[in-house]
Amino acid sequence: MANSPTHSDSPPTATTGWSTLHRHHIGIDLGGTMIKYAVVDTAEGTLTTPLLQLPTPVPVTPPAVAEAFGTLIHQLSSRPHAPHPGASVGVALPAIIRRGIACSAANIDEAWIDLDVERFLTDRLDRPVHVLNDADAAGLAEARYGAGQGDAGRPVTGTVLVITLGTGIGSALFVDGKLVPNLELGHLELGGVKAETQASAVARERENLDWPAYAGRLQQYLAHLEFLFSPDLIIVGGGISARHEDFLPHLCLDTPIVPAQLRNTAGVIGAARHAYLAAPIRE
Ligand code: BGC
Repeated sequence: MANSPTHSDSPPTATTGWSTLHRHHIGIDLGGTMIKYAVVDTAEGTLTTPLLQLPTPVPVTPPAVAEAFGTLIHQLSSRPHAPHPGASVGVALPAIIRRGIACSAANIDEAWIDLDVERFLTDRLDRPVHVLNDADAAGLAEARYGAGQGDAGRPVTGTVLVITLGTGIGSALFVDGKLVPNLELGHLELGGVKAETQASAVARERENLDWPAYAGRLQQYLAHLEFLFSPDLIIVGGGISARHEDFLPHLCLDTPIVPAQLRNTAGVIGAARHAYLAAPIRE
């Protein structure tokens, strides 16, 4: 599949126009506690179903997750605007994903590591599946349809960093709208410890930090990222971004910093977009 021609990232034209058949994809976002999923219209970056959720099976092993995905795909197939059964499914995982293979596992079972996830899920679900890191998925959605949109709906040019604050810290880097995958900036060490253990949303809850104290942690982390990457824009996502007014105003950076716009749908939308972009044109 790697050598097949794939969709370009350009908007549709009169000759390449998106048909409804080709642009609707199922997006799935596997989290440590919930699986979020929906059918996504990848031309608009909108959901054609509500955002649905299933509890993540415990333990979060590949066979248990494949079974849950099978159930949800079956459920979505009976909805209006259901994608064609041959349309690829996009899956976001909290893992480094290289050529479809998981190289790490954050809050999911270690059995994922070294698994060819794309092949495994494609076989189990009997549909083509394309997999990517969860922060990369959220970033793809924000860059294309959310806070990273510049003039005329095109992604902001230059270097854009998307940072998701949740159980860990996820990161996605875009250079002129193009994703540099698997960045893992939550694992940068600050003061001898991993940044995500100090500045994630869960770290704030665990340590019962008030907003100014939490903003102090973020300031240190984001100022370091600013020094390393000289970004043109920083987008802050994850569930905590709904409370951006409580912490963003405390930050003092040279880079413009904005909250994510797609909130808890970003992973699902980005996963579906990845499926759309990675799918061979014949699909
Ligand atoms: C993982 C990343 C993931 C992020 C958000 C980190 O702990 O290493 O792969 O994107 O959490 O889930």
